[in-house]
Amino acid sequence: MRPAAASFPRVTAILFVGDIVASAGRRTLKALLPGLREELGLDFVVANGENAAGGIGITPKHADELFAAGVDVITLGNHTYRHREVWPYLDEQPFIVRPANFMRTQPGHGTCVFERDGASLGVVNLSGNLFMQAATPAFSTVDDALREVAGADHVLVDMHAEATSEKVAMGWFLDGRVTAVVGTHTHVPTADARVLPGGTAYITDVGMTGARGGVIGVRREQSIAVMRTHMPMRYDSSDEDPWLMAVVIRSAPGSRPSLAASIEPVLRPASSATNDSGRNQTR
Ligand SMILES: [Fe+2]
Ligand SMILES: [Fe+2]
Repeated sequence: MRPAAASFPRVTAILFVGDIVASAGRRTLKALLPGLREELGLDFVVANGENAAGGIGITPKHADELFAAGVDVITLGNHTYRHREVWPYLDEQPFIVRPANFMRTQPGHGTCVFERDGASLGVVNLSGNLFMQAATPAFSTVDDALREVAGADHVLVDMHAEATSEKVAMGWFLDGRVTAVVGTHTHVPTADARVLPGGTAYITDVGMTGARGGVIGVRREQSIAVMRTHMPMRYDSSDEDPWLMAVVIRSAPGSRPSLAASIEPVLRPASSATNDSGRNQTR
């Protein structure tokens, strides 16, 4: 009898892109994603978009731009409601999520399930509670949120938090229950990507997709001036030395939701885009 090789579940590759900051971040994503899709054999792309519009928040136009660039699901964070025009969009568009532990009365939803070619990816967005404004503790909300994506083939949790301790704890809390827990918000990538013993891929912070020549996305001379003078100043987004910062998670087939076989950082300068796509898309 022929082995039914075709029916074996295959490895799935999920790219998670750290906070996309302003036009430099959007341009970098557009320049690099087509090449990464081919190079890494990507099945799903999730990106944090909370800084996509001018460095703070997101608008429907910029969310549509990210979807058109190949992002399947957008996650958000503490800057979710900065632009009023996105409020109704968050209710209407199923594949943009804001932290599940915001208030029920706030626009949007905290989970979604995206499907492609018969496979499904559940995405849960959470906000940390230390130094962040969230209605309920992430740890008491996450079980309900996971019930909303129950049955998905893969589940990814974006834990948007300031404190490393909260993110590490969430990784351990969900180890063995989801495919991946990825941290966002600090814009600085951490060196602790690993698959935890229970099989959940984990990283404390993925980093940002934006200008590395600034201070977490802001023009560095402005940021330094504010820190030196303690006086308010206008902040503009930096354009200098843009990078894409992401992780690629590969699933280990055999359970639902899948557990992870690997998680690897993907840290690339915009200048590494192939000449053709770089020249055409980074202007
Ligand atoms: Fe951010
Ligand atoms: Fe944030």
